[in-house]
Amino acid sequence: MPLETVTTIAELRERLRPARWAGKSIGLVPTMGYLHRGHATLVDRARDDNDLVVTSVFVNPLQFGPNEDFARYPRDLDADRKMLAAHRADIVFAPTVEEMYPQPIATHIEVEGLSGRLEGERRPGHFRGVATVVGKLFNVVQPDRAYFGEKDYQQLQVIRRMVADLSFPLEIVGVPTVRDVDGVALSSRNVYLSPTERSAAQVLSRSLAAAAEAISAGTVDPQKIEAIVRGVLASEPLADPDLVAIAAADTLEPVDPKALPPAIALMIAVRIGRTRLIDQRVVAVT
Ligand code: PAF
Repeated sequence: MPLETVTTIAELRERLRPARWAGKSIGLVPTMGYLHRGHATLVDRARDDNDLVVTSVFVNPLQFGPNEDFARYPRDLDADRKMLAAHRADIVFAPTVEEMYPQPIATHIEVEGLSGRLEGERRPGHFRGVATVVGKLFNVVQPDRAYFGEKDYQQLQVIRRMVADLSFPLEIVGVPTVRDVDGVALSSRNVYLSPTERSAAQVLSRSLAAAAEAISAGTVDPQKIEAIVRGVLASEPLADPDLVAIAAADTLEPVDPKALPPAIALMIAVRIGRTRLIDQRVVAVT
C-alpha cells in the first residue's frame, strides 16, 4: 500500500475508523521528523507488530523553551516521506501547528515529580509539552502500540507513567538507541554539528561506555560513576556537560548503594559547540 499523507485530525480519524472496526491493530510512531535510521528502526518494529503503521511528523512548539531551537529545528517532509515509504509505513500524519493547536492550549498533561527532575530541571516545561502532545496523539490515533526510542530515556519513563496514570489503553514499546559506527547516537540535531564537532561528539558514548564497564566491574557508588563519566567528558575540549545523571532505571530515583536497583540508567546532556546532545545507557547491576 502506498504511503498516505494526512494533515488534519478529522481526516486521520476518518481514515482509521474502518481499520479499527475491522479489528486491525494500529502502531503509532510519534516523531518530530527529519527522520534517520533510529526512527526507521521504530517504524520497522511497528511494521512487524501491527496491521497499520501511522507515523506522526510534528515539531511540537509546546516542548521547546523560549531560548531553544524550535524555529531552526530541521524539517524535510519530502525526505521523511521517502524514508517512511521505504519502511512500509501506511500513513504519515503531518499536521500544522494551527491544526494541532487551533487556539492557545489551556489543557496540559503534567507527570508530576518525574517531569521536574534531571532533564526536566534543565528544560522547564519540556516534559509537560511532550506529555501533552503525546496524549493528544494517543487520543487522535487510538493506537494499540506506540514506539519510542530509549535515547530520550526520561521521556520514555514520563510517557510510561502518563499511560499508567491515565489508563491509556495501549502498550508503550521502548526501542534501544541506534548509533553510528563511531558510537554517536543518531539524532536529528546531529545535522547542526560541524565535522570537528561531529568527531568531538563521540565523547558522549565513550563516557557512558567507561561508566558501564565500571558498573559491570562492581562500582555502584553514584558519585564514583559520575566522576568516571565527567572524567571522560573532560578529555574533550569541545564538550560542555549540562547534565550527568545516575538513577535507578525503573523509577529514575537516585541510586542508593545500600538498596541497589536491578539496573542503573546513565543519562547525559552535553553541549558540543551550540548543539545540546543527549545520550543514555542502562546497565544491569549484577
Ligand atoms: O521524541 C520526540 O521526537 C518527541 O519528543 C515526540 C515524542 C515526538 C513528541 O513531540
